[in-house]
Amino acid sequence: MGSITFRPVTEDEYPSFARAVVEGFSEDLADDDFADHLKTLLPPERTIAAFQGSEIVGTIAGYDLELTIPGGCLAMEGTTVVTVFPTHRRMGLMQEMMGLHLDGAAKNGVALAGLWASDSAIYGRYGYGAATYAETVTMNSRDVMFREDVAIGRVRRVSVEEATGVLPPIFDAVLARTPGMLARTSDSWKVEVLHDATWRRRDRTSLRVVVHEGADGPDGYAIYRQKSGERGDGHANGTVHVSEVITATDQAHASLWSYLTRVDGCPNVRWWNFALEDPLPMKLKEPRKLTREKRFDALWILILDVVAALEARTYGYEDSLRFTVANAFRKDVEGSYEIVIERGIGSCIRVEGDTEIEIDLDVLGALYLGGGDAHAYAAAGRIRADTGAVGRLHALFHTARVPWCNQVF
Ligand SMILES: CC(C)(COP(=O)(O)OP(=O)(O)OC[C@H]1O[C@@H](n2cnc3c(N)ncnc32)[C@H](O)[C@@H]1OP(=O)(O)O)[C@@H](O)C(=O)NCCC(=O)NCCS
Repeated sequence: MGSITFRPVTEDEYPSFARAVVEGFSEDLADDDFADHLKTLLPPERTIAAFQGSEIVGTIAGYDLELTIPGGCLAMEGTTVVTVFPTHRRMGLMQEMMGLHLDGAAKNGVALAGLWASDSAIYGRYGYGAATYAETVTMNSRDVMFREDVAIGRVRRVSVEEATGVLPPIFDAVLARTPGMLARTSDSWKVEVLHDATWRRRDRTSLRVVVHEGADGPDGYAIYRQKSGERGDGHANGTVHVSEVITATDQAHASLWSYLTRVDGCPNVRWWNFALEDPLPMKLKEPRKLTREKRFDALWILILDVVAALEARTYGYEDSLRFTVANAFRKDVEGSYEIVIERGIGSCIRVEGDTEIEIDLDVLGALYLGGGDAHAYAAAGRIRADTGAVGRLHALFHTARVPWCNQVF
């Protein structure tokens, strides 16, 4: 078969890289603009391709992301477009590309890497653990009745152009208090969130944006598309496909959901990324009518630098723990550590000798944002410690707020 080489693609090779990415995800290049669009997000120097001769047979790339963590935010390497052409699968190409990608991030001093996984069996071996979860929910407008005591106000439609100015401050207020969310630049609003190219629509309308005006100005928004439909008896049976609902106040939340479930012609409403702790069911007369289509793992976290990552977040308890981290793929991270928490801040050092806890690196990633359950991982043998130490680990890492990730990348 000849040898495979790995390197970033050049400008000239970028269209082939984009094609390999799209085909790797079982699609075709829908539009000639797609390669240019991808290049604005993932410039050539952030890519790695596997080449057989001049042919690209594997791809990976990195985004520069900023992630909200408990008590702050931290730079994160976003792992993306991991594909290997079917003719070259299960020959170790992904493994090789992943090593180069993560070594590069670690060398650049980035303490975290993150991704959304197409398959939950792939990434644990590299040290990524599922750190946030979400649900896909559907509802029918005739079933969604708000309790009488829920205050509902009006929303107004804004154009996509106006939205680029109105939405970011609302988003940033919610971002600051929600671990698991990814910060946005003015470019990412334009080229990702509010980018409305035809290839993004998939038989649905262009983007619709509505904003709730609170007492102190705009405090919530929803972005959605509609798809028309008809029942056998001729009644309209369209669907509102929600892309995003971000609300900084309770009234904005109720008002926007009331609006989304009252769009004439579209009695069906679907949001793919409903937060586990979203209060919508508590506001409804019949919470059971909100259908949970599926629960899924969303953002996976890999800790590349244990000391930097653990010192960057805050903790709710004072304690100290000695723990050993295990992972065959990230040998540089393996070893023993001690963390001492004082007034919510952790000091972490490498140590020698016995520790109370042995934890797999992917599990540390799963606990990092505060949503993981250390007891459940211990029951599965992925944390090895006595019950008392597991309880202390859980208490230290767990947060009252459930982490939620706003965006697939
Ligand atoms: C996922 C994908 C990139 C794997 O590429 P690959 O080059 O075949 O993977 P490797 O040969 O390097 O495999 C490394 C290890 O991961 C395992 N593995 C690879 N893909 C896997 C999968 N989908 N499920 C479970 N294990 C998988 C391999 O068995 C191997 O384990 P082993 O060393 O114990 O035998 C490739 O199958 C692909 O392109 N899939 C479609 C696109 C996709 O879903 N990408 C992931 C995006 S998040």
